[in-house]
Amino acid sequence: MEILPMAQQHVSQVAALEQICFSEPWSENSVAGELANPLSVWLVCVENGTVCGYVGSQTVLGESDMMNVAVHPDFRRRGIAEGLICELVETLKGKDSHCLTLEVRSSNVPAIALYEKLGFAQVGRRKNYYRNPKEDALILRKEWQI
Ligand SMILES: CC(C)(COP(=O)(O)OP(=O)(O)OC[C@H]1O[C@@H](n2cnc3c(N)ncnc32)[C@H](O)[C@@H]1OP(=O)(O)O)[C@@H](O)C(=O)NCCC(=O)NCCS
Repeated sequence: MEILPMAQQHVSQVAALEQICFSEPWSENSVAGELANPLSVWLVCVENGTVCGYVGSQTVLGESDMMNVAVHPDFRRRGIAEGLICELVETLKGKDSHCLTLEVRSSNVPAIALYEKLGFAQVGRRKNYYRNPKEDALILRKEWQI
């Protein structure tokens, strides 16, 4: 298993994981567009050519946003998301970013536990931020020195 920058050959598998993991998935075109975006860092976890997880971010003026992280259900609870986010933070540190912010559904117990383990703290809440189903978002942030 290895963590790599997302490349063209990973895009269709990442889009397929979006379909499996989210009620409002990114399209394959939207995922592919991230490859050409100089503000974006997307990483994939690959085993024998299969993408088992990924994380995506964008950075503007030293502040990074994590747009999505997901792991295929067959590969969960093996530390893949933790590995992806830790690698993402190390990559962002090298790009003069000083924090990583994300939104998470308030009922998403596994994801919230993951972020708490990795040192993210709640900095806000957005009422009815999500649709399908409608739900609040918690805003979490992890900061570091650069
Ligand atoms: C959230 C998600 C990315 C976690 O991926 P994962 O690879 O299974 O997570 P990891 O194995 O790296 O877990 C790391 C830590 O997160 C926490 N965690 C992960 N899944 C958990 C669960 N189901 N219940 C409780 N805690 C959990 C634990 O603290 C875990 O550490 P531990 O195994 O030492 O107890 C995965 O469940 C997923 O893809 N969910 C659907 C998509 C999603 O909700 N993404 C987040 C959007 S904001």
